[in-house]
Amino acid sequence: MVQKSIVLGISGGIAAYKAAGLASLLVKQGFQVQTVMTKAATEFITPLTLQALTKQPVYVDVLAEQDPTRISHVAMADQADAIIIAPATADVIARIAHGLADDMLTSILLVARCPVIVAPSMNVHMYEHPLVQKNLHVLRELGYIIAEPDEGMLACGYVGKGRLLEPSDLAEILSFALSPKPLQGKKILVTAGPTKERIDPVRYVTNDSTGTMGYALARCAWKLGAHVTLLSGAVNLLPGIGIDVISVSSAIHLQEEVEKRIAEVDMFIMTAAVADYRPQTTYDYKWKKTDDVDTVTWTMVRNPDILVSLKGKYKPGAYVIGFAAETHDVDRYARKKLVDKGVDLLVVNNVLEYGAGFGTGTNRVDLYFQDGRTTALPLASKMDVATMILQQALVRMGLVDDEGMQA
Ligand code: PMT
Repeated sequence: MVQKSIVLGISGGIAAYKAAGLASLLVKQGFQVQTVMTKAATEFITPLTLQALTKQPVYVDVLAEQDPTRISHVAMADQADAIIIAPATADVIARIAHGLADDMLTSILLVARCPVIVAPSMNVHMYEHPLVQKNLHVLRELGYIIAEPDEGMLACGYVGKGRLLEPSDLAEILSFALSPKPLQGKKILVTAGPTKERIDPVRYVTNDSTGTMGYALARCAWKLGAHVTLLSGAVNLLPGIGIDVISVSSAIHLQEEVEKRIAEVDMFIMTAAVADYRPQTTYDYKWKKTDDVDTVTWTMVRNPDILVSLKGKYKPGAYVIGFAAETHDVDRYARKKLVDKGVDLLVVNNVLEYGAGFGTGTNRVDLYFQDGRTTALPLASKMDVATMILQQALVRMGLVDDEGMQA
C-alpha cells in the first residue's frame, strides 16, 4: 500500500506540545509526516522533537531552501494527501483567511489542493471574537475542515471553548478527510447496545450487548460521509466526534425514537439487542423480599418487534440492515428473519462461535441478501466487519462499484 503523506502544521500556542503526540500517533498509523512550524511554534516546542518523532526534516523558514533541485513549499503541497494544522492560533487562522504567504506554512496552503484540517486552540474570548469567527467562516466556505476545539480548562486559566482536540480525535478527523465519501448527503440511523426492561428502580432485564458492533457501523458510516444518528442503549463507549447520539432505555423507548426519524433516513441499521419480552408489572418503588417467599415468578409480556413494525414506514429507496444473533439452526432462522423482518440485508452472527457476537472486539458474520445470495465474511475486528458490511450495502445501493470506487 502506498504510504500517505501528511503535512502537520504547528503554530505558536501553548497546545503546540500536543502536536508531538499527534505526530507520534500518525507515524504509528503508517503515515509519512512532514512537519512545518511557524517561527512562534518553535518557542513552544523544538523542531528536533518533531524531527525525532517523524524521522523527517522539519521546515520553518520558507526562504531557507536546502535542496536546489526543488522548491520546498510547492513540493510539499504537491506531495501531501492532507494537511492538518494543530494547533491553529488566531494569528495563523487570520493569515490563512487573508491569503497571506509570509511563512512556510501559509505558502504551502496556497499551493495545496488536498483536504486541509484546521484545529483552533486559544483563549475562549479570543475564539469567540467576531473577527476570529469571521476568519473561520471564510475557511469553512473555502472547504477547510474546522476541528472545533473542546470546552474545558484552558492554559490561560479560563474555562470555556478553546482547548485543542486530543490527538486521537484529530487523527479520526484526518481519517475522515482522507476517506472517499459515497454516503455524502445521506442520513443514516444506527441502533446499538442493549435495551433495559425495568422491574423496579434498582432492577432490570437486559443482555450482554456492549454496543461495539453498532458503534463501529456508526463510525464507519460517518467516515464515508453520512450524517449519522446513533440510538444507543447503556454502554461504556464514546461515539467520537461527528455522530449525534441519543440514549435509549427500553425496547418501547427505542421504538419511539426510531419512529420519530425513520421516514427521513436513507439507511437504517438495527444492531441493537432488543429484549423480546419485558416484565408485565413494574414497580415505582424497590420491590422487597419477604421471609415467607422463597420463589418468585415474573410474568413477561411481548415487546413490539421494531423491525416488523416499521414495514411500509421507510423513505422510498431506503436500505435496511437487520442483525440476527443465533446459537443454533443458524441458516434456517436467518432465512426466516430475512423475510419476517422485511430487511434488505440480514447480518447473522452465531454468538457461540469463537470471536463472534456479544462483548468481543471481533465478529464473524454471514450476510443474507433479499435476492437469495449469501456471503460469509472472515473473522475480523468489528470496525473491519462494519467496513465490509457497508461496502456490500453501498454496492447494492448503487453508490460504489464492486471495486469500492464511487459510482
Ligand atoms: O454490542 P456487541 O457486544 O458488539 O454485540 C453485537 C451484537 C451481538 C449485539 C450484534 O452483532 C447483534 O447480533 N445484534 C442483534 C441482536 C438481536 O437482537 O438479534 P435478534 O436475532 O434477537 O433480532 C433480530 C433483529 O430484530 C435485530 O436487528 C434486532 O435489533 C431486531 N429486533 C429484535 C427484537 C425486537 N423486539 N425488535 C427488533 O427490531
